[in-house]
Amino acid sequence: MSTEWTPAQIPSLNGRRVVVTGANSGIGYHTAAMLARHGAEVVLACRDARRGEEALAKLRRNQPDAKLVFEPLDLASLASVHDFARRQLDQGRPLDLLINNAGVMAPPHRLETADGFERQFGTNVIGHFALTARLMPALEAAAQRAKDAPRIVTVASIAHKTGRIDFDDLQSTRHYGPMRAYRQSKLANLIFARELDRRLRAAGSRVMSVPAHPGVAKTNLFRDDRSVMTRAVRALLGEMIGAFLNSDVDGALPTLYAATAPDVEHGGYYGPLGLFEARGKRVGPAYVAPQALDADVANRLWQVCETLTGESFV
Ligand SMILES: NC(=O)c1ccc[n+]([C@@H]2O[C@H](COP(=O)([O-])OP(=O)(O)OC[C@H]3O[C@@H](n4cnc5c(N)ncnc54)[C@H](OP(=O)(O)O)[C@@H]3O)[C@@H](O)[C@H]2O)c1
Repeated sequence: MSTEWTPAQIPSLNGRRVVVTGANSGIGYHTAAMLARHGAEVVLACRDARRGEEALAKLRRNQPDAKLVFEPLDLASLASVHDFARRQLDQGRPLDLLINNAGVMAPPHRLETADGFERQFGTNVIGHFALTARLMPALEAAAQRAKDAPRIVTVASIAHKTGRIDFDDLQSTRHYGPMRAYRQSKLANLIFARELDRRLRAAGSRVMSVPAHPGVAKTNLFRDDRSVMTRAVRALLGEMIGAFLNSDVDGALPTLYAATAPDVEHGGYYGPLGLFEARGKRVGPAYVAPQALDADVANRLWQVCETLTGESFV
């Protein structure tokens, strides 16, 4: 495993297709930009048409030759996930990389998705579970064709370290804590990604599932008007993060590493190696908290996600 990896080492991605969720902003935007720069055809999967088209236009201005397309995807609606996946599969084209990046953090009050799930669990976890399940045929098709194994990268967080999966109140109906629900969702992202990789290997699939986290990066996650923090606190926090922790460009490095580095390992989890794993341009193995290693919890969470989405795969 190289700790001196830089995006300059990303190989040519010509002929490879990528879906990036939440590609209009922050880490997703810079992930899409860098993958396109290396020749990949990138689908910008975004919930808001205006923000998606604006991101597309900006990326095209910077990279006129890039192969980019915007496709609407609202992870807070299973109907939207199904529509998006159907449009992808109808193209009959293999998918080499799925970047499960989109996320919401800490709305001050409990909100729900279109299907009645708590918004953070529903978007960050359930939406990506359903999306991955539905896109699996295209990923498996790439596994038949491509030399490099297709990968699914799921963006977790150092917030998982203090997270807990509360199976008795997964949807925070009895008690809603904004950050508590966020931490649970990010722990669930990490457990999902690791359990998916385990299941894929057990099924003999070549598709890899690799979780990554950005440390703490200055993105719209901290500027969201629906955040639990006041506008002034958010503005100050954003400036401090940008100055002392990671930029949005740096925040995309672990995702890019997990998506493209040749020495990524099964069961690996990658993030920045700097101060408390919160910052730095050097990427390497990240700490996995004990609660993310519990096989019974992983199995139970998988079954719950299958029940809630109606999807059964690997
Ligand atoms: N920034 C950090 O320090 C940090 C730390 C740890 C983990 N992360 C994780 O990194 C990932 C990317 O976040 P970011 O920091 O880049 O924040 P960001 O700039 O706010 O980007 C989040 C992206 O997710 C999209 N999104 C939100 N809800 C969605 C939905 N229902 N359907 C589709 N897309 C949706 C957003 O779309 P809109 O623009 O339309 O809202 C946006 O494109 C998240 O999973 C986050 O949890 C970030």
